[in-house]
Parts: sequence; C-alpha cells; structure tokens
Amino acid sequence: MLHTLKQKLAQEIHEIVSRPVNDLVALMEVPRDIKFGQVALPVFRWAKEWKKAPPIIAQELAQKVKEMNVENLSQVTAVGGFVNFQFEDTFVQSLLFNECFDKGKDIGGSNVGAGKTIVIDFSSPNIAKPMSVGHLRATVIGQSIYNIAKSQGFNVVGVNHLGDWGVQFGRLALAYQMWSEEYDFSGNAFQSLFDMYVRFHEEMKTQPELEKQGSLVFKKLENGDQEIKKLWEMFIDISIKEYNKIYKLLGVTHDEVLGESFYNDKMKPTEELLSQKGLLEESDGAMVVKLDEYDMPPCLIRKSDGASLYATRDLACALYRREQMRGDQLLYVVGVDQGLHFQQVFKVLEKMGYDWAKSCKHIAFGMYKFGENKMSTRKGNVIFLKDIVDKAIALCAEVIEEKNPTLLNKEEVARQVGLGAVIFNDLAGDSIKDVKFDWDRVLDFEGDSGPYVQYSGVRCKSLLEKFGQELPRATKVALSSLEERALVRLLLSFPEVVATSYQNFKPHYLANYLLDLSKSFNNFYHKCQILKADDEVKQARMLLVHSTHLVIEKALNLLNIELPNRM
Ligand code: ARG
Repeated sequence: MLHTLKQKLAQEIHEIVSRPVNDLVALMEVPRDIKFGQVALPVFRWAKEWKKAPPIIAQELAQKVKEMNVENLSQVTAVGGFVNFQFEDTFVQSLLFNECFDKGKDIGGSNVGAGKTIVIDFSSPNIAKPMSVGHLRATVIGQSIYNIAKSQGFNVVGVNHLGDWGVQFGRLALAYQMWSEEYDFSGNAFQSLFDMYVRFHEEMKTQPELEKQGSLVFKKLENGDQEIKKLWEMFIDISIKEYNKIYKLLGVTHDEVLGESFYNDKMKPTEELLSQKGLLEESDGAMVVKLDEYDMPPCLIRKSDGASLYATRDLACALYRREQMRGDQLLYVVGVDQGLHFQQVFKVLEKMGYDWAKSCKHIAFGMYKFGENKMSTRKGNVIFLKDIVDKAIALCAEVIEEKNPTLLNKEEVARQVGLGAVIFNDLAGDSIKDVKFDWDRVLDFEGDSGPYVQYSGVRCKSLLEKFGQELPRATKVALSSLEERALVRLLLSFPEVVATSYQNFKPHYLANYLLDLSKSFNNFYHKCQILKADDEVKQARMLLVHSTHLVIEKALNLLNIELPNRM
C-alpha cells in the first residue's frame, strides 16, 4: 500500500531524475514528521554527481514536481536534503480501505514465496525433560517466522527435531528397570520420568558404575534390543503427550515430528559420502572434516569409540530436508550457544559441493535473564517453560478478578492475555539479544507490552460492536487531522513491515510496529470523537477503526498471539 504510493511517485518522477523506477522506490522513506506527508525522497547521494548541495537539489526537484501537477499529490516540500510528498487524504484512505476490504484477514500477505519451500526446525525439545525457557524462545520465535513465511506465500514445513537419541536413554531405561515401581506412571508419567532422570544423575555421582551400566543399556538399544526399545518408545510417547499439551495451549503446530533417531540409518551413508568426496580425515582416532581455512575447529563426524555425533546427525538431516522434503531454504531456530555447531555443519555442506548450503540459516536467539540470574541448564537451576506460562495466566486471572470481575469467559481471557504477555515480551526485542524478564513489565497493561497491544485491539472491537452497522467500502470524508493521517500512514506500511520482517527473519519488527500502531491508534482515539461524530464523519472514522482492528489482529496472529473479544 505504501509501496503503491512510492511506485506511483517513482513512475512520475523517474525521468526528471533519470533513475530507474525500482531504484527510486528502494530509496524512498517515510518523512519523520507526519505533517510532511507519506513519502520522502533523500537526495544526498546525487550531490556529487550533480555538483550541488542536497538542499538545493531538493528545492529544485520539489519545484519541478509541483509544476508537473501529479494527480492526487497535494503537497511537495523540500526539507533539508529531502523532498517530501503528501498525497490527498481521500486518495490514501481509499487505498487503505480498499486493501482491507479486498484482502480481509489476508491483509499483509503476498505471494513472493510461491513455489518455494522453507523447512524450519523449531522448538525441538529433548525427550524426558521439560521444555526450558530456551525452548520457549525456540518455540515462539519459530512459530512466528513460520506464520510470517506462510503469509508471504511460501510452502512452509515446520519440523520438530526431538532430541530422542543418545546415551541418556540407556540411563533412563536402566533407571526405569530399577525404580519404576517407586514412581507413579499412571498419573503424572512425565513428571515421574523426569524425576527418575534427575535421580539417576544424582546417584551417578556417588555410584560411578551406573554410568557404565547406562552406556551398556544404550548399546543394547542401538543393537535393537526389543525390550529396551519398548521402554524408549514409551519415554517418547509420554514426553510427546506432555509437549502436545503445551503446544495446544500455545497454538503451536509442526508439520513433521522427526527426532534425531530418525537419522540413525542415514549416518553411515552420510559418512561414506564425506569420505567419497575426500573430506574425511583421521585425527587422534576420531574422524573429522577439517575447517582450518575458515578458522574453525574441525567438525567431528565420529568419535574414537565409534559413536556418531550431533553434527553428523545434522548433516544427514540437512541432506534429508533438502532432498526428500525439497527444502529450498533450511532454517534452524536454536539458541546462540549452538552457533559454532551450525557454522560448522553449513561449511561442511558447502565443502561437499552443495550450493544451497549458503542459504541455510541458523536463527540464533539469546537467553532469558531473570534479575541477576543467567539461565543455565548445567547448573541445574533451569526455569521451565510451563512454569512461566502457568504463572502468567494465573497473574492475569488475578488482575481480571480485581479489575473486571464480571468479565465473560474470564479463564479464556486470562489465558489469551497471559500467553500474549509472555510471547510478546519474548518477541519484542531482537531475538539475538537476551530477554530481560520482569513480571511487572511483562504484564504492564500501559507499557510496551502484549496486553497493551491487545487492549488497543479490544478497544477497536468494542467500538465496532457499539457502532453495530455495516460499513461502506469508501467514504468521501477526508480524515485530515494529524492523528488520523499518522494512523492511516502507519496502516499503509503494514505489508512492507511483514515483508521486511520475513526477509530478515526478525519478528520484532512486527512487535515494534504493533506498539507504534497501538500508540497511534490511542492518539487518534483520544483526539477525535468517533461514535459521537456526525454520521458521515463517524462512518469514515469507523472505517479507520475497522482497518486498525484488522491489522492489529493480523499482526498479533502472525506472532501467534490471540486477540481477546474483551478484556
Ligand atoms: N534438541 C536441541 C536442544 O534442545 C535442539 C535441536 C535443534 N535442531 C537441530 N537440528 N540441531 O538444544
């Protein structure tokens, strides 16, 4: 929509500046101050070539454009090294309103991705362990990128790469054989599984022989021992049931659940391929691919004891995602601490001669910081995803009880707002940065929070309900106050925000946009009378409310956050 304005303008003026239309469109910005209109063109880069100071260029250009009498253009102003363009209010409004009517819930969508497949690995918890806050990040960042990619027309395959293989399953099977009777496996089986896991590792400290025995049981599993395999399958089953509860609560879906074990029979062929390509070398009894030329430590393919490694599995897995799933691009939403691992895997794929390796991307994220506490799995002070989510919902339920005890569907709203708060807080900053977590800020209904955005959307919804009439498609009334213009301009930029958010794999662009939009809407709401205005003006303003509602709901949904009906 904003793009349409830029395009139109570039079409008109490209000859007088002798630049290709697309270059001009790419150069165009939005004026900082709404009073200068919708589009700004910086002219600094032409100063050298045209041997003039930017303000002079801007003035001359503005003058020329004025003389052209471009249709629907109401004002052209030179400010410093910029030429600013303002289009007629009724023209820009109708651009927005038409788009909202035509696209409806698909607003912000495009088909740039048509015909291309993206495989995105996200959430990927480890069997028998509760998801940590790290997995909360992997889940919500992943699901939002998944949604955004879909809105851009890509065929998206979301994969849950469960950590379901490794020596810990030998230990767990052993623990189960020794102690299962002491635990409740009919009630909370998942909790029992985890308790047993923790206990085994505790006891291993004083009884080192347990470690060796655990490894032996894992060997049995590797060799296909039926009894151990049954236990292992049961552990997976119990864990998946627990994860699914959380996914359901969060509204998360995967298209494929393919754990690490899925690649067991693809490890040898991968190793052989590496060897055929002359990349495999021996080093201290282990097999590696050297990456010296990239200043990286060698990528370990097989340990001296024959055990294959996380990297080998990810190599086999990448080949599978490329060849069987036909992924044009492979994305991995995983903590920043695995950065080197993915760099190594991608480089090895490149050395194998796969050009597509260059488009593989590790979407890395930082950690949660609770006050002074860094989250760490190794120290054992892990904070679990479920605890945060449950607490957020409980706190919201308290607020509702206190402020709005007669609200309908209180539980449902507490869930929507509690989850919205946690997810928004996670996505509000650049993923690569750590997330500062502080309950007051996360749930601050007036601050830069999920609830604040939801509240703005709910305000739109309730205006629409009170208005209660069918809206026309267009209006002749010009919405020309600065607050209305600012809101219209921001809404017009929505499709571009979604597109750049996708191109950079950065959901926080959308989250920040939602904050700006909510502020802009609230400025409009406080400044302009809506339901009390004269009929025609009321209708026009309601069209703006309708568009805002559509965009807020869509942007929230892309971030996997629901908009409650009331709150
Ligand atoms: N299970 C791993 C973890 O919890 C994440 C797996 C990420 N995906 C991958 N293909 N390596 O840390």
